Amino acid sequence: MSTAPLPANAGTVPGPHHVAIIMDGNGRWAKARGLPRVAGHRRGADAVRRIIRGAAELGIPVLTLFAFSTENWTRPQAEVSDLMGLLRHYLKHELDELARNGARLRVIGDRDRLASDIVRDIGEAEAKTRGNTRIDVNICINYGARDEILRATRSLARKAAAGEIAVDDIDEARFERELLTAGVPDPDLLIRTSGEQRISNFLLWQCAYAELVFVDTLWPDFEKGHLEEAVVEFRRRERRYGGVGS
Ligand code: FPP
Repeated sequence: MSTAPLPANAGTVPGPHHVAIIMDGNGRWAKARGLPRVAGHRRGADAVRRIIRGAAELGIPVLTLFAFSTENWTRPQAEVSDLMGLLRHYLKHELDELARNGARLRVIGDRDRLASDIVRDIGEAEAKTRGNTRIDVNICINYGARDEILRATRSLARKAAAGEIAVDDIDEARFERELLTAGVPDPDLLIRTSGEQRISNFLLWQCAYAELVFVDTLWPDFEKGHLEEAVVEFRRRERRYGGVGS
């Protein structure tokens, strides 16, 4: 389990303390209406706004959303460009809404492949929302868990080869400090929308003990009520972390 500290308000709510969501089904939402895929992504961005607000209202201290994976670059160029356009728009125009929700934004992923203006806007959005304390919102962009784990491994191997650390000192806490999520507590609830039941290279290390909830609703239709239902399901489950429970 992560040794990262829970957010300041984590003790005041029964959990989940960190909800991660694989936002899936934008394309099918659009197809069912005879619309281009970008229309689904646009409605998906509306759902992002709605769910950040809903999560803040439900007292969820950390929300992580999977917006663009390292594999998503293989989509048609036009769709990649539409998604990057939506991202640009979001980073510029959602800051007031994030502030209203008390949301501190952090973008998680490899920024090297992103356009320089997006990297700049990410930095500005993170800086402008840094003082917000009600909810931490992490948006994963150009994120892939295997890539993250490999980079962490290489970084530790380099440090060990250089004599900066001893191999035997590499434990879970040391490893986590090399991950892109360093400092973020592990998700305790992972939701995937659209009926697919896969983790798809998302937070593989961090979700080791997460409760998994798969819902049939397509992401553009996902409402605060669906989030609340997943939270209720989470609270119904008994979490044992490999032990025998009480
Ligand atoms: C999965 O649906 C969704 C994505 C790959 C992109 C997620 C993007 C958004 C929700 C909008 C932009 C986000 C922000 C933060 C501005 P899919 O396209 O794989 O759907 P399908 O499986 O039905 O084809």
